[in-house]
Amino acid sequence: MEKIRIFDTTLRDGEQSPGASMNLDEKMMLARQLERLKVDVIEAGFPSSSPGDFESVKRIAQEVQETQIAGLSRTTPGDIDRAWEALKYARNPLIHVFIATSDIHLQYKLRKSREEVLEEAGRAVAYAKRHTQEVEFSAEDATRSDPEYLARVVEAAIEAGATIVNIPDTVGYIIPTEYGKLITFLRQKVKNIHKAILSIHCHNDLGMAVANSLTAVESGARQIECTINGIGERAGNASLEEIVMALKTRRDFFSYQVGVVTEQIYPASRLLSGITGILVPPNKAIVGANAFAHEAGIHQDGILKEKTTYEIMRPESVGISQSTLVLGKHSGRHAFREKIKTLGYELSEAHLNQAFQRFKEVADKKKQVFDEDLEAIIADEILRIPDLFKLVNLNVVSGSVTVPTATVQIEIGGKLYQEAGFGDGPVDAAYKTISKITKTKSHLLKFLVNAITGGTDAQGEVTVILEEEGIRVTGQGAHTDIIIAAAKAYINGLNKLEHQKRIKGV
Ligand code: KIV
Ligand code: ZN
Repeated sequence: MEKIRIFDTTLRDGEQSPGASMNLDEKMMLARQLERLKVDVIEAGFPSSSPGDFESVKRIAQEVQETQIAGLSRTTPGDIDRAWEALKYARNPLIHVFIATSDIHLQYKLRKSREEVLEEAGRAVAYAKRHTQEVEFSAEDATRSDPEYLARVVEAAIEAGATIVNIPDTVGYIIPTEYGKLITFLRQKVKNIHKAILSIHCHNDLGMAVANSLTAVESGARQIECTINGIGERAGNASLEEIVMALKTRRDFFSYQVGVVTEQIYPASRLLSGITGILVPPNKAIVGANAFAHEAGIHQDGILKEKTTYEIMRPESVGISQSTLVLGKHSGRHAFREKIKTLGYELSEAHLNQAFQRFKEVADKKKQVFDEDLEAIIADEILRIPDLFKLVNLNVVSGSVTVPTATVQIEIGGKLYQEAGFGDGPVDAAYKTISKITKTKSHLLKFLVNAITGGTDAQGEVTVILEEEGIRVTGQGAHTDIIIAAAKAYINGLNKLEHQKRIKGV
């Protein structure tokens, strides 16, 4: 069976989603999970785009040795050198150079002629080859480019040494049958095409990224670029979990080999949404909360008699455990550590102790602690940037006849600050008081509450989107007391804003 390479770009294109920016520790944690998932390539970032991106590509290249590591680069020698500076530590580095080939991009963005771009593409690939053997070339906006011209650029890139040529549907414009024809055309037209792996990269603007990717594979593409949960620019990229599970579930139709360890899909999805705060819709294929839930009586009856009546995949095959009830207040550290491992997290001893202490507090309040509770604890306690603001205490008084009042204590740089304030409701009172203490001026754009598991003792998970000075961040907090969860989410968002402001020098 021929192999399809899975090229994960969650840390590069995915990170370009609004609100998806991650700090270095978060990127490292996700990169390690992608390594466990056994994707073929991790695109770790775009080194010349910012010092933060450079650092994260470098660290991932140094520490993630089992997977090929790619870094994106424009065609200038300076960009390519910078990409190499970060990538050179990798056991198997890949420089990924790109330039647009559509007339729209040439005329309005690059202000270059077709001949200039053709020449620049070849020159950039040849330059990147001076650093390393493995070079990928992407023709940005390929699907809106003149196919004859695109074929010339692809041929020039391969001639210059590109080992992979990528044909991106940058704006999610193409229709599956058209994409299939374009790939077939390039395979016939480009004389040296057999010397490179043909790759595809689809965006989801018309909701066809996965269908386009699979059609391109049928026409001869052998590398698919995709992201966990389908995050990415605008409407996102093709979703890794949907592509992989389609190829595996319909092996009778596709018959290709895919190296991904599918049992690591769900942990990867949960890890990413825990880090970014971008929630997965319940009806999302493969990883949504309802993906394996059967509601209709006829369906439930069928499933009880024979699972294959209504299930084409087993939830366990993507890492969703059937029995989600895990631990209680008598569970010990050993059981806790083992359970955390099965959820895909490798925690240091210090982080494990921190999470265990919080687990004990939750277990004291709830009879049953579910996988989702543990993930919320980890997201809340561990997956966060070093806190400038730390919530120490929160007391709220509210009711139908009292004016909602909050008393808040926050630690800032080791010093304790306390304030009290009123509001229109308990959350409003808490938020106004927190912003008084922290002297922050962010706007609250979104406030979402989600019960992590069932029951009135469920932990509440609050997600907020905050904006200040054009910077937008997501904050998350979880607690059995929903007002405390809301305060934690707000403070998490404020910490992220401070972090971003420092990076951007605002
Ligand atoms: O969508 C796109 O064209 C890209 C390229 C840089 C590969 O992300
Ligand atoms: Zn893209």
